[in-house]
Amino acid sequence: MIQRPKGTEDILPADVYKWQYIEKTLTELASLYGFYEIHFPVFEYTELFARSVGESSDIVGKEMYTFNDRGGRSVTLRPEGTAGAVRASLQNGLTSGNFPLPQKIWYNITAYRYENVQKGRLREFHQFGAEVFGSNSPYADAELIGFGAQIFAKFGLNNIDLEINSIGCKECRKTYTAALREYFAKHIETLCDTCKNRLETNPMRILDCKSPICKEIAADAPIILDYLCDECKEHFEKLQQILTINGVKYTVNPRIVRGLDYYTKTVFEFIASGVGTQGTVLGGGRYDGLFEEIGGKPTPALGFAMGIERLLLAMTEQKAFLPEPVKPIYYIGSGASDNEKQKALEIAAGLRKKGFRVLTDISDRSFKAQMKYADKSGVKFACIIGENEIQSGEIRMKDMTTGDEKIVKIEELM
Ligand code: HAM
Repeated sequence: MIQRPKGTEDILPADVYKWQYIEKTLTELASLYGFYEIHFPVFEYTELFARSVGESSDIVGKEMYTFNDRGGRSVTLRPEGTAGAVRASLQNGLTSGNFPLPQKIWYNITAYRYENVQKGRLREFHQFGAEVFGSNSPYADAELIGFGAQIFAKFGLNNIDLEINSIGCKECRKTYTAALREYFAKHIETLCDTCKNRLETNPMRILDCKSPICKEIAADAPIILDYLCDECKEHFEKLQQILTINGVKYTVNPRIVRGLDYYTKTVFEFIASGVGTQGTVLGGGRYDGLFEEIGGKPTPALGFAMGIERLLLAMTEQKAFLPEPVKPIYYIGSGASDNEKQKALEIAAGLRKKGFRVLTDISDRSFKAQMKYADKSGVKFACIIGENEIQSGEIRMKDMTTGDEKIVKIEELM
């Protein structure tokens, strides 16, 4: 039998209800904050991700699903949503002045990364993302982070930690990168091969390396917060003030650098217990240079994305509320004749019009087999329409939980 590709998941009817509940809740919350939904393609020209997520990131370096289409152009399945959302906004003039700024958009997408598969780390996964285009203010950062915190509160997750950091702007990053280079150069012999390269391309990536030896070396590396320029420092301090005043609990973790190259200033992660090593359920930050990077006018921007699979893992682990599948209410079975079947169809149609979920016999089953199917399907009430019922206009309705039977007039039922 053909199996699904490694790192992908099937979501079966019994679980789809959980997804629908999460999607509905997120849609409502996003709307409370004034975000509008956007759709964009599953694949884009590869160049978009190379220029935004960045050549030095693991995602672009080794995780993208990239192929040439039949016209010979290199396309890539989106590894995340920010690049596509920014490209779509630019291409459709959302930030050109014809629409109010800041623009606030959200998306619910599949994303694709060729990763080492483990619990909470898939090759096809789902992201709910929110992006804000056109605000410099730390109040925008605070609102976005507050929105993130509200998501977890709404889903009843208490065991979530918020960690924030500032990774500065281009200017402060220059001096910081130089300091990191100087520090790591002293350990070049012990760094892993990838990090030896990173020392040249982007030494900040070494701080994110999973190798235990590189981690140990990175523990004593200079921290970015000591290198922030006045503007970045002020922005970060103001953000913390606003979060504190508004009761959003956080810790500053100067080691958060994030795995994508476009970030500037604020970065943050919401980390859950119980999701295994992949504890980061939601991550985001500012990316004030990205619009320019992909050919737009300078536009300050920020956003986050949350992995729905990881959210579900955390909700299951922390025993948060998740709805049960909705079951049909009525089973309207029938005898074998066309006349009996037609009457059952009419009753079912009438009940459905009134908004009840109804099953009928579409398999020409025996009376006994029909009741068995009704029971297995979890209906609340079941009946069988025979010639007698048609003649008398009355049916025997069985309460499937208690086993009680009640004579009901068909007209009344309808
Ligand atoms: P990211 O940290 O790469 O950021 O991903 C965001 C979230 O997506 C993660 O915290 C995680 O929950 C989920 N995720 C990522 N990779 C996987 C995977 N392989 N399997 C399952 N879940 C995964 C971004 O993607 C940025 N675009 C976020 C952002 C939006 N920054 C600004 N705006």
